[in-house]
This record gives sequence, C-alpha cells and structure tokens, in this order.
Amino acid sequence: MCGIVGYMGNQDATPVIMSGLNLLEYRGYDSAGICTMASGAVEIRRSSGKLVNLERLLKQQPLHGNIGIGHTRWATHGKPSIANAHPHKGGSVIVVHNGIIENYLLLKDELTRRGHQFLSETDTEVISHLIDEKFTADTSFEEAVRQALKEIHGVYALCALSEKDDKTLIVAKSGSPMVIGIRGNEYFVASDMPAIICYTREIVIMEDGEMAVIRNGTVKFSAIGGGELEKISRIIDWSPLKAENKGFPNHMLKEIHEQPQALRNVVAGRVREEEGDVVLEGLNLDDTSLKSFERLCLVACGTSWHAALVGKYLIEEYCRVPVDVEIASEFRYRDPLVSRKTLVIPISQSGETADTLAALREARDKDAHIVSICNVADSSIARESHGVIYTHAGLEIGVASTKTFTTQLVALYLLTIRLGRANGRIDLRKGQEMIAALSGLPALVEKTLGLDSQIEEVACEYLTSWDAIYLGRGISYPIALEGALKLKEISYIHADGYPAGEMKHGPIALIDVDMPVFILAPRDRHLVKVQSNMEEVVARGGRVVVFCSEGDFKTGKGAEYALQIPWAGEALSPVLFAVALQLLAYNFAILKGKDVDKPRNLAKSVTVE
Ligand code: F6R
Repeated sequence: MCGIVGYMGNQDATPVIMSGLNLLEYRGYDSAGICTMASGAVEIRRSSGKLVNLERLLKQQPLHGNIGIGHTRWATHGKPSIANAHPHKGGSVIVVHNGIIENYLLLKDELTRRGHQFLSETDTEVISHLIDEKFTADTSFEEAVRQALKEIHGVYALCALSEKDDKTLIVAKSGSPMVIGIRGNEYFVASDMPAIICYTREIVIMEDGEMAVIRNGTVKFSAIGGGELEKISRIIDWSPLKAENKGFPNHMLKEIHEQPQALRNVVAGRVREEEGDVVLEGLNLDDTSLKSFERLCLVACGTSWHAALVGKYLIEEYCRVPVDVEIASEFRYRDPLVSRKTLVIPISQSGETADTLAALREARDKDAHIVSICNVADSSIARESHGVIYTHAGLEIGVASTKTFTTQLVALYLLTIRLGRANGRIDLRKGQEMIAALSGLPALVEKTLGLDSQIEEVACEYLTSWDAIYLGRGISYPIALEGALKLKEISYIHADGYPAGEMKHGPIALIDVDMPVFILAPRDRHLVKVQSNMEEVVARGGRVVVFCSEGDFKTGKGAEYALQIPWAGEALSPVLFAVALQLLAYNFAILKGKDVDKPRNLAKSVTVE
C-alpha cells in the first residue's frame, strides 16, 4: 500500500525522504515521487516502477529544500504511471495521500465545472485542487485543508504543502496510518515508524480525525473538525530490524528459513512446563473473565484468515468453546451478532489491514472484548484492542506471509492452552503434553526445510501446469487453502484449496493429466479418508503429489511423488505442512523467474478496503 514520508527541519529533505521511502518499500508500490520546497518554489520528481528509477532521476535532476514530501504509490484509482504517481499538484497545493476518496468523481466533476484541470486519473489530485480552491486571501492554508477535508468522504492519511505558505507542512489522518517523529525542531512524518526511527525515537501516533500543522519548528495538533488537541509523544524502545538478506537470494527464502527462530521467539518466556500452562503477557484477562465468554470470533484477511481457520479447529477441539471465523471485509458490513459475551480476536501480521481494523471497531462498538494477534508492535490493531498477543516473528519484508503465518498458528496454540487451562477442558497432564510438543517444533521445521531439493524436483516436474488443486481434511484443510494462496500470489499459477471430502461434489470434474493435485495426508484421524480421496483422483488419471508424515510409506502409493513431513502431532502438523507448501510455491515462482518478494499487484500492508 502507499507509503508516505515527509520532512521539515534544517537538513536537506531529499535524503531523509528517500531513505524513508526505501524503508517503506515492503508495503508494495508501483511508482514513486517526491517534492521539495525552497523559498516558495516547489519542484516535483516522479517515476514509475521501483525506487531506483526515482533515485536515478534525482541524480540527473537533484532536488533541494528543507521541506518535502515523498510517496510510494500502490495504484487504486488510475493505472500505475508517471502521471498518476504522487505528489499531485492542484494550483499552489501539493498533496501525497494514502487511502481512497470515495466521492472523488463527484468532487472532480464539480471542480472541473469551476475550471480546474486535472492531469491524472487519481482521487488524490482532487484533494489538492479542493484545498487550493479554499485557500484564498481570507483563509489560511490550515483552514483551507480543514474545509476541504470536511467535503471528503473516504479513508486517508495525507501530507500537504503550498507554494503560498512555504513554512508549513500539514498532515491529516482518517483511516490510514500516520506517525510524526520529533527531534528538536525537526519533524519526520511517515506511514510507518521504521521509516523514521533511525532519526528519532520520539513519536506521536496520529489518530483518526486528527490534523497536525508543522510550522517554524513547532507542531500543533487539532481535530479536523476544529479544536486544539494535547498529544503526548512516546519513546519507542523497540528496534526495527534491518531488512538484510544475510546471504539468501531474496527476503522470502530468508524468512522461510527464519521460522525455527521465529517459532522459538513466539514461545519464549510464555510456557510454564510444570503447570502445564502458558502466560500471555498482553492478554489482560484473568481465568474468570477468560472462561466467561460464550463464544469466540476470529476475524482476519488472507493468510491470517487461514490461521484463524486452524485456530477454530484447535480451540473447539481442546477448549470446547464455539468459534466463528470471519473474513473481515464481510464481517464489517454484516451487522454481526457479537456482544460483551463474545471474545473477538482480530488476527493481523501488519496490524494495519483496513478491513480487519474496521471489523475490530465494529465489534468493539457492539461491546465485544477484543484481543488481537499481531506481529507489528504499536500498530493500529494492537493499540485499539483490549489485549494483544504478539507473534514476535520479526520484520517480514517478503509480501507473501511465511514466518508470520506459522507464528500466528503457534500463538493460537498457546491461546488454546491458556483458555483450556482456564475453563478446565485441558487438564494438567494434557497441558504439559501440549507444551512438550512445542519444544521440538523448531527442530522439526529445520528438518522440513531440508526437503527443499525434493520439493524443487516436484516444482520442476509440474512447471508447465496452469492450475493446481490442494486437498486437505480437518486441520489440514486451511493449510490446503494457504498452500494454494501462496502458489497463486508468487508464481501466478491458478490454484484452489478444497476440503478433500468435497472433491466429489464438483472439483473432481477438473482432474486430468495436466493438473497436479497436492494432497495433505498427515498421520491424523483423517488419514484413511484422505487416502480414499487420493485414490478417487488417481483412478481418474489425476497426477498426485502427496505430503504425508515421515515413515508413512504406504500413504504415497499411487502418487507420483510422496514427500515425508516430520510428525509433530495433529495440533502442530499445520506448521510443518505450511513450511513445505511455502517451499513448493517458492520453487515454482523462482523456476518461473518471478520476483517472489514483490509479486505483482500485491501490497504487504493493505490499508485501503
Ligand atoms: C498472503 C498475505 C495476505 C495477508 C493479508 C492480511 O501471503 O500475506 O493475504 O495475510 O493481506 O494481512 P495482515 O495479516 O497484515 O492483516
């Protein structure tokens, strides 16, 4: 999603902004731009594609000035192009924006009728024209922004400059994230803290409906609707990890290989072996409150939604509490049935996914108790929850979630133990057994990573296929969905995940010699049934690759390939099968020559709905 960086101070703004934009690269983008202002003169540079193109342009045509704003654009309105790249200028006003202006067409028509000329297809350009129109001899820049924003419906985080007021940088937020860093009389604005934390750790997190006016070495906060606000800065004590490849050819492979350590981190300090229990420091619920909920509702998007599906299996199986799993973008508009007797658990790597955040707010407005599972510290979802369980996976740069998914699975496993111990469904022995199973997990992931060359062979064999089916049953069904999603997003091969038992109700018609069927067959209670489903595919000439448990030689009968995945017990097997399917998707994508870290059209942090 779009990334914003702004600067006002006594240094040259360009290097500060460009280093920040580089650190926001992980969010995904298709074009970039920057604007600086010196003595009221504004200059803009924009380019399509990667940031190196903008860097090249800046070498040829450098920019100077102590005030500036920059942007990486992830196209929503208007195709990726230089004309649509930000910053956008309307009259004297220059704007960068993250979000979507829902009434932009209406506003654009009205502005066009009043003589404004538009050079892009974006919704953002409308904002700059609207502010410009309001910025008259009788109205200050600040007041013009305030008036314009009152007419805008939608989601935004934006920075605005004006040639008519060269000492002011205005920032506003409603729905998309924005933070301001302070160092003496210098101000750093960004969509995400890692972009500016190398300059300052004193950060003000802006909330929806707020505006900041940075002028002459000071900042003044107010509500967009009017009225000054006292905002307190906080000192950030965590360090953003540097995005280094450490000898791996790309971030995705590095992150896949970081999983043993990430899984140690999510568990570290949380287990009490003797008590057969776990301590979840941010949960903020005692046993009485935790067991008082009538149901749980897990809400998420994409890969995080797949983790939620696994969570349902775990919590219902071990804690015997009903769990609903909701896709956030559906939940938020459905007037969902939640109450103070519902524990709502938003799951989000970034903690900024717009739909998940909106679902959280919807549930909170209906008095539900919110405990989120997040990876990014101090993210919007973490901040707006009553409790938070961090996954401690570390920075994930690859757009496709890998280590953040498996750590979500383990966070849900820990929550299952805690809830089961609180409501008495998991006794001491079972709790101890579940904790003991966790201790061997990192080594088993390591072993699974060792299957890479066999998995590469499979990818080579089916490289020319355009479709694939993933089948799983029980707790492996969500992993089939996740395997299919990974393949789609990084290799662009169409893939579907199905519950294996559902095959005969339709998808079996697709079986032919061109389509590989990847079957997940761990040594769990569904194995015999899955074997029958596999035979149904083989009998129709389907080409089967089976992922079975180590030592289960018979399971592979009839399959073209059988990959033996270490056995970690039913509840943790999703972690190991997920790792194998990450490697499968990775190998397909690499063999096809795709950019696995930045798949087309995707963004790491989806801050628009
Ligand atoms: C796929 C992927 C996405 C995210 C989804 C939710 O690999 O990463 O499907 O899972 O966009 O993102 P978060 O977890 O940040 O809310």
